[in-house]
This record gives sequence, C-alpha cells and structure tokens, in this order.
Amino acid sequence: MDPRSSPSRRTSLVDTFTGALARREAKSARRRLTVLPQSAADFSSNDFLSLSTSTAYRERFLAHLKDTPSSFPFASGGSRLLDGNSAYAEELEKFVAVFHEAPTALLFNSGYDANVGVLSSIPQPGDLILYDELIHASAHEGMRLSRAGSRMPFSHSSPTSLRDALQSQIVADQRIRDGTRNVFIVIESIYSMDGDVAPIKEFISAVDELLPNENGYFIVDEAHATGVFGPRGTGVVQELGVQDRMFIRVHTFGKALASHGAMVLCGPETRDYLINYARSLIYTTALGFPFLASIRAAYDLLSEGETSQVGLPLAFTNSQ
Ligand SMILES: Cc1ncc(COP(=O)(O)O)c(C=O)c1O
Repeated sequence: MDPRSSPSRRTSLVDTFTGALARREAKSARRRLTVLPQSAADFSSNDFLSLSTSTAYRERFLAHLKDTPSSFPFASGGSRLLDGNSAYAEELEKFVAVFHEAPTALLFNSGYDANVGVLSSIPQPGDLILYDELIHASAHEGMRLSRAGSRMPFSHSSPTSLRDALQSQIVADQRIRDGTRNVFIVIESIYSMDGDVAPIKEFISAVDELLPNENGYFIVDEAHATGVFGPRGTGVVQELGVQDRMFIRVHTFGKALASHGAMVLCGPETRDYLINYARSLIYTTALGFPFLASIRAAYDLLSEGETSQVGLPLAFTNSQ
C-alpha cells in the first residue's frame, strides 16, 4: 500500500503549514499583517520625507491628474510590451534619466521587480557575481534566477573583503583575468537596517586595480537614498560624482517618493536588452497612469528643491 494513503502516516499540507508557523512562533519570528493605530509612533515607515501626507505633493499629483484629457485611460491595460506603454511613461523615463544624469531610464513596477529583472537577465552564462552580504532579498531572488556561473558574498561594506573575493576568483579563473568573463559587483548605496553608506569609491578603486580589462560592472541599488541623499535627492552615486562608473543604478519610488515603482538607470543597449529579456518587466501589467503621475509629482518637487534633505550627511560614513 502506498504509505501516503495510510491515514496514520499522512500529514496534510495544512499540517505542514501549521508546523512551520509554530516553529517560527517558537523563534519569535512569525510574521503577521497588522494595521497600526493612527496614534502609533512609527519607527519603520519608508515614507522618510513624509511626502505621502504633504499638501504640496498632493496638490501636484492632483494637478497632473487634472491636466490630462478625460479620455486618458487610468489603467495601463497591459504589459509595456503590449498595450501598457504610453507617451507619458516614456516622457517620465526621460525626465528621470536627466534628473539622475543617466543615459536612459527604464520603469519597472517595483524595486523588487527591477532587481529581479536586472539580476536574472544581465549576468551571462559563466559570469561571476560578487555581492555585499547585506543586499536586499529582491537582489537574492534575481541572482537565484540568473545564469551566472557563480556568486559569492563579501563582508558588508568591506573593500578588503571585496578585494579578497575578487583576487581568489582572478587566480582561479583565466577568463576573469583576461577579461572575457564579466564580474558584477552588487551593492546598495545605503543599507536599510543600519542606515550606513557604502564605500563606493573604495570599491571602484579595488575593481579598477584588480580588473584592468574593464570587465567589472557595478550594480547599485539606491532604494534608501532616492529623494533623500545627494543634490536634490539624486542619490549617493551622484553625491560622489561616480554615476559614469555605475553600470546600473536602481532608484525606487515606494520609499521617500511616496509612490510605487522603480527606474533602472543604464545605457541604451542595456535598456533595450532588459526590454527583451527582463521577465519581471515583460510579463506583468504596467503601472497605471495615477502611479506615473504620482512619480512625476514627486520628481517635480525634488527638481524644484521642495523636499528637505533629511538624510545623514555623507561625512557620517566610516569611509568617505
Ligand atoms: C534595498 C531595497 N531594494 C529594493 C527594495 C524593493 O523595492 P519595492 O518596495 O519598490 O519593491 C527594497 C524595499 O524594501 C529595498 O529596501
């Protein structure tokens, strides 16, 4: 008799879930959805600039909604590759690219989707990914789906650890040495749990020194810096003036910009490649017009210097 059909031995799927949740409970790690009371003191909000309750932001957003003809559809109606694209979305991408001094920008539905799309498609078969041990779960998800040959963590924000990891791979792999295999260095510019700023310039020095064939590519997630750090909230990369050295920058809009979505800043060929290969862009319904208008409203305020710079000054970092 098939043991799975014996009532005494059978554990139902729901029993498995119950057991897993009980184990989480025992470790005080069980997650729950909660609705916070209005009076609660909030130490965890992503709404760093309180833009979501700002009158200036609300008015700008409503003005963008009113400015469009009443025939303009609210829903995108599909993937950007089908009905979901619009002149408004493309104009927004151009605006954001200019603001961040990038060649081009590509809009994703979230930072999660952007990281998954970038990391799952950009590294080529056999390539190496070196990543900061504290990078966001979405980057891990993208790397898990990627065709890279190997991926290795380095110690959080440690140029020495990045050097050691890179050196060991250079010794082991002739193709990394001769520049025919790519190396991706995946970092955030500001880390969420400790709020520390990555030593980006030191990382660049290490990569320049160890990969003279220019096969090192930085992918930096600026989710926590967007709207808060750098001139007018452009980010840490622009604060440091190293935008030309980043292969890809990811800026997200669900945090300080009080909206939703993300932009990948990159060169035109990379943008075109992502449109063709990033499945988290291709196989999902694009953001509707109200979200695009709210992103635009937030960027209007940043451009006009209407948001205060509330981030820690870069001088607070341990390395810059
Ligand atoms: C560093 C980082 N990257 C990406 C994301 C995902 O961004 P989104 O919330 O837009 O999906 C987050 C969100 O928590 C994040 O902290």
